[in-house]
Amino acid sequence: MRLFLDTADIDEIREINRWGVLSGVTTNPTLVAKEGEDPEAVWKEILAEVPGDISLETTEPETDAMYEEGLRLAQMAPNAVVKVPMTPDGLACGKRLVAEGIRINVTLVFSPAQAILAAEVGAYIVSPFLGRIDDVASDGMHALRQICDIYRVQKYETNVLAASLRHPMHIVESALAGADIATMPFDVFAKLVKHPLTDIGLERFLADWEKLNDQLKGEA
Ligand code: E4P
Repeated sequence: MRLFLDTADIDEIREINRWGVLSGVTTNPTLVAKEGEDPEAVWKEILAEVPGDISLETTEPETDAMYEEGLRLAQMAPNAVVKVPMTPDGLACGKRLVAEGIRINVTLVFSPAQAILAAEVGAYIVSPFLGRIDDVASDGMHALRQICDIYRVQKYETNVLAASLRHPMHIVESALAGADIATMPFDVFAKLVKHPLTDIGLERFLADWEKLNDQLKGEA
């Protein structure tokens, strides 16, 4: 399962990229707005920083305008993936972009039925929003499992990207369900690496090492 960061903050992206585990980035209008800068400049910096898939979201609600916007976003770099919403206009636009050889990410997906539509238009990525499904007292992980099962049975090639992930167990469960990609905010990524026994173990190893060095110095 590939790991993506869900952010438009270049410092967060640089930090996780440094670890050697970052395969891509997802952005959305809210995340880009948080940066308070020219969106094109923000996207360009991210596209240049990470060689993997970078999702850039359309904001035009109607098919024709969304299509023109999608063409512009796709032209920004070869690693750009165009996000379109799960709406009739988003699907129609997505279908046209796919016909042009552009990779699309169908976003704001909350049900297996919607995920079938995304696969049928030939999406490169489908993004079910797990955390937001949980927020309305439903089961996001159950929806993800169903989507992964359907895609396997139907042999759909669309990549399942588990989105709106809120804690490390979301990532573990997404991997078990068979998601192709998990995208998460910086704080969740940072939690993946942490374990108290790692910290205690390292502290002990370093203390023993120092003790040995002191002992050898004393003998010299
Ligand atoms: C995915 O592409 C979305 O940007 C994202 O995962 C939404 O997450 P949120 O529900 O935490 O805003």
